[in-house]
Amino acid sequence: VAVIEDCSHSHGSKIGAREVGTFGDLAVFSIGGHKMVSGGLGGILLAASREHYEIACLLGNFRPRSRNSVNDDRLRNFVETGLGGNLRISPIAAVLATSHLNQLDELVATKSANARRLLHGLSELPGLAVEADGCVGDNGAWYGVTVQAGPEIDVDGLLRRQRELGLRVRRPATVPLHRSPLFSTAGPPTWASAEQARWIRALRDRRFPVAEAAYQLSLAYPATFMHDRHGIIVEPYIERTASALSLANDSASPRR
Ligand SMILES: Cc1ncc(COP(=O)(O)O)c(C=O)c1O
Repeated sequence: VAVIEDCSHSHGSKIGAREVGTFGDLAVFSIGGHKMVSGGLGGILLAASREHYEIACLLGNFRPRSRNSVNDDRLRNFVETGLGGNLRISPIAAVLATSHLNQLDELVATKSANARRLLHGLSELPGLAVEADGCVGDNGAWYGVTVQAGPEIDVDGLLRRQRELGLRVRRPATVPLHRSPLFSTAGPPTWASAEQARWIRALRDRRFPVAEAAYQLSLAYPATFMHDRHGIIVEPYIERTASALSLANDSASPRR
């Protein structure tokens, strides 16, 4: 079984001593608009084997790029046409992403330090179930920093109070996948095969209580301020979360 790593926004992250993107046969990083390495739109493919690399080249490119990159005799037959696709990155996106890539160590260090300070501060607040060192991997692969509230917290109420205090905390943008129309609607336009339709019907009636419960208690802190070298907004985020939690407690306690 070939392993393809979805490394979307984990540029520069490691698990233990090993870089994300080096575990599988292929790995894909996004360089979309909000990513740490961004070209506006596009991606980076890594292949562990020469064969996968050359096939990927043919899938995306015909003529010069494939002529230059594809050596395998069987695959060289296809260099004039590629395999029918034209998936080349725009040169402007490549230039922008290269500029971010050249600053990657600094970007990762800044983001990692800010996220760790935030998690550490939030871990000391009653009501949140946050581990101070709760990042997977060592450098942080965060799109947003997602934390869990304790089961006694009214998450909607907490989010409302946080927003009133000016914080941009929200529920995670991605709902549990079984709730997304793509996986719960029979016959969305792109799902052509009968087997896929059967799969969707089977999923539609299933319940996923663990995913539901995790989602119900999740709060996503924005990642944008993680890029600020001075991290000036981290402390206010912790302090105002503390205020929002204590306001929630006040309104929950019985009035005299
Ligand atoms: C886990 C994951 N995979 C894939 C993607 C898709 O990235 P893109 O469409 O920019 O390549 C995203 C986007 O944020 C993501 O979060």
